[in-house]
Amino acid sequence: MPVTIENQVVLVVGASSGIGRETAALFAREGARVMASARRQERLRELQESLAREGRTLETLAADAADASQMEHLAERTRERLGEIDVLVFAAGTNVPDRSMKRLTTDIWDMVVTVNLNAAYYITRAVLPAMRARGAGHLIYIASVSGLFADVSGAAYQASKRGLLGLAHAIRVEEKENGIRTCVICPGLVDTEILDRRPVKPSAETLAKALRPEDVAETALAVAKLPARACVPEMQVVPTYL
Ligand SMILES: NC(=O)c1ccc[n+]([C@@H]2O[C@H](COP(=O)([O-])OP(=O)(O)OC[C@H]3O[C@@H](n4cnc5c(N)ncnc54)[C@H](OP(=O)(O)O)[C@@H]3O)[C@@H](O)[C@H]2O)c1
Repeated sequence: MPVTIENQVVLVVGASSGIGRETAALFAREGARVMASARRQERLRELQESLAREGRTLETLAADAADASQMEHLAERTRERLGEIDVLVFAAGTNVPDRSMKRLTTDIWDMVVTVNLNAAYYITRAVLPAMRARGAGHLIYIASVSGLFADVSGAAYQASKRGLLGLAHAIRVEEKENGIRTCVICPGLVDTEILDRRPVKPSAETLAKALRPEDVAETALAVAKLPARACVPEMQVVPTYL
C-alpha cells in the first residue's frame, strides 16, 4: 500500500513553471505541506493563487538555486515555516540556444552546469544533515534522458545531466544506511517553457505527442508514495511514441 503524502513536508526547487510547478501543485493537492521555490516571485504567487482557488495552500520563497547561501536559507525557512523536510524535488534546470560546441562559451558552460548540477548539490547539502539526523528523507532529482544517451541538447546540458545522475547515485550509496533514498527521474520530451530556448522549437505535431509536465509530476508523486523500504534509484519517463 502506498504511503500517504499528506502532511509530509515537500520542498520543490524550480517550481515556477513546467515540471516543478506541476509537481508542487500535485503534492499540495495530495495534502503535502509544500514549499515552492524558484527565482520568479510573480510566477510563484500565481501558483499560490491558483491553488488557493482550489482550496489548497502552499508556501513560496524566491531564491536563486545557483547561489549556495540562498539554498541554505531556503532549507532553513522551509523548516521554520513547515517543519522538517521529508521530500526534496529538484526540478530547476536550464539550457540555451547557443548550445553547440561552435557557439558555447565558458560563461554559458558555467551557467548551465551551475544551475543544472551545482545547484542540486547546494540544496542537497542544505537539507541532508537534518534528514540524516532523523534517519529519513527522499531526494528526487529531475535529470533527463540527455544524461543517459547522446543527443543534440548540447555538451553543457548533457554533461550536467550526467553529473546529476552521478550525484544522485553517489548520495544513495553513502546515505542509504541513514534511511535516505534518492531517485533520479530522466524524462524525455516534455512540453514546457525550456523548449523555447531550443535553437529550433519542436513542431506542434511533435509537441502534441510529447509528455506534459503533469506526467512527470505524477511520476515523482508515485516515487514519493513508496514505503520507506522501497527505493527507485533511477527511472525514465518518455513519450509513448519514442
Ligand atoms: N522539457 C523537457 O523536454 C525536459 C526533458 C527532460 C528533462 N527536463 C528537465 O526538467 C527540469 C524542469 O524543466 P522544465 O521542462 O519544467 O522547464 P521550465 O518550465 O523552463 O522550468 C525550469 C524551472 O527551473 C527554474 N530555474 C531555472 N534556473 C533557476 C535558478 N537559477 N534558480 C532557481 N530556479 C531556477 C525555473 O524558474 P525561474 O526561472 O523562475 O528561476 C523553472 O521553474 C529541467 O531540469 C529540465 O532540464 C526537461
